[in-house]
Amino acid sequence: MCGIVGYVGNREAVGVLLGGLKRLEYRGYDSAGVAVIGPDAALHTAKKAGKLAMLRNELAEHPIAAGVTGIGHTRWATHGGPTDVNAHPHLGDEGKLALIHNGIIENFADLKNELLAQGVEFDSETDSEVAAKLLGLEYARTKDLRAAFRAVVGRLTGAFTLLAVHQDEPGVVVGARRNSPLVIGLGEGENFLGSDVAAFIEYTRQALAIGQDQMVVITPDSVTVTDFDGNVVEVEPFEVQWDASAADKGGWSSFMLKEITEEPDAVANTLRERLHDGDVVVPELEALGDDILAGIDRITVVAAGTAAYAGLVGTYAIEAWARVPVDVQLAHEFRYRDPIVTPTTLVVSISQSGETMDTLMAVKHARELGAKTVSICNTQGATIPRESDAALYTHAGPEVAVASTKAFVAQITALYLLGLHLARIKKTLPTGERRAMVAELEAVPAKIQKTLAVHDRVRQLAHWMADTRSVLFLGRHVGYPIALEGALKLKELAYIHAEGFAAGELKHGPIALIEPGLPVFVIVPSPRHSEEMHRKVISNIQEIRARGARVIALAEQADAAVLPFADEVIALPLAGKFFEPLIGVIPLQIFAMELAAAKGLDVDQPRNLAKSVTVE
Ligand code: AGP
Repeated sequence: MCGIVGYVGNREAVGVLLGGLKRLEYRGYDSAGVAVIGPDAALHTAKKAGKLAMLRNELAEHPIAAGVTGIGHTRWATHGGPTDVNAHPHLGDEGKLALIHNGIIENFADLKNELLAQGVEFDSETDSEVAAKLLGLEYARTKDLRAAFRAVVGRLTGAFTLLAVHQDEPGVVVGARRNSPLVIGLGEGENFLGSDVAAFIEYTRQALAIGQDQMVVITPDSVTVTDFDGNVVEVEPFEVQWDASAADKGGWSSFMLKEITEEPDAVANTLRERLHDGDVVVPELEALGDDILAGIDRITVVAAGTAAYAGLVGTYAIEAWARVPVDVQLAHEFRYRDPIVTPTTLVVSISQSGETMDTLMAVKHARELGAKTVSICNTQGATIPRESDAALYTHAGPEVAVASTKAFVAQITALYLLGLHLARIKKTLPTGERRAMVAELEAVPAKIQKTLAVHDRVRQLAHWMADTRSVLFLGRHVGYPIALEGALKLKELAYIHAEGFAAGELKHGPIALIEPGLPVFVIVPSPRHSEEMHRKVISNIQEIRARGARVIALAEQADAAVLPFADEVIALPLAGKFFEPLIGVIPLQIFAMELAAAKGLDVDQPRNLAKSVTVE
């Protein structure tokens, strides 16, 4: 959840660290801090509760030394509230070393008791400070940062990325990871560490991904990766495909608005190089082997939040095209239900960040049970794709706003590619029909672009509803996950009670919630795809309208049948049955963003959340 940056080189470290933290702030934003080894060979730190701006103000008022070695942290609190004292870095060895941590040290209580018994004093309530104090003791004993660090990581259980510096070893940053992310940026006469590549993308696109239970030591001219026993390991370099500007807000008022407008590109880029002669060939899946894919008799999607809703959208199309049963399981529930997974099960994980701990653990569990695993992921060098048998990257570009938007449409696109690829191998969908689906997919970016024109209308609606306390969302078939996603967006951004239901479920209980004036968004399926389903949704609209609900219908532009029964209609471009969600979700994303903005809320960094949820 936290963002971590390390730097050693020839630039002023504070500037590099603050720049990196700015790009990582989406990971956590309840406090931030930096530690730098100054030219006086002493350690200097600054840390502050609140967003990064608070730390910047602090540094402007009380600048710290201009060193060239340092570490920086932006926090999402787990142990101990978001206060100055609990902010990282934490100190050891009488203030000569600084340590930052992302994750949860599960055995911290035992270790803390052990240290307290030795007379060690603690300043904070965090689990992280235990690692700092332990490192201090080890350093005092060994006078060797590498050896001391290795000894400490060997004693920790749980999930952690740790970085540390010691004033007696200027020009050195040590790092380690277990179940939490850490990547290396390779520069000329300088090197970087970061929770993800955004931390150093401004300076270099050459990167190395550190594996599980590995340690790294960077100096200006060297990078050494070892396992926790100190054996040197080779790590594969990769080139970061994002450029620095992709992770900047540019002239946009928020990252979320920028990212919504990037949705056409997110879909188009995800399709690129995976469509050939009107058919789908996904090279990353070919690596799994056609025989294996042909033998897949069940697909289980594991994901959380918006990614799980993308999975739910995908189930309808994949089952229809590849004739394989598909279910979606929330990643955090998967392991605990003794899932039925066999070597012919394909477990597809979906994760924008590629670091969501719940999803990572589900993937590991699936592999232990013998399943083949495919990761749909948006972040290069992330852990989940590296822990999977195959990785199908979505090319949405960096998603910085905490609320996922462009990643969602890219994830559905990737799932559709997977479905069509499987259908080709399993020969379950005639070539002509596959080609028709490919044509639909190719048309999606332009349709999303067209849909973005509803923005002004939706903004107006959101402003009218700024005082609304509850909103419902209804959908059927592929509209159902869109209802769930619409509700999630509204909850997380505007802090409004919102629920999504399958429209048919309403009469089984939730209809009791309807009261005069309650806004209800209804995602209306096209009558061209199913007259029956369309008729049923229109009936649902009448049922709730009869009870006083205010109906906002999302319907295709030619659908006149809905007009007499809806208070508002948001008209959408015509799309194929499975492609409506890629378009229908756009007004709901805009609505949530605009309602949050109307309430004066921060749409990029909603309260209590972090983008990358790296704790279970
Ligand atoms: C969506 O707006 C969320 N902030 C959240 O539900 C997110 O989709 C979920 O935490 C999964 O994240 P991931 O895609 O990085 O795994």
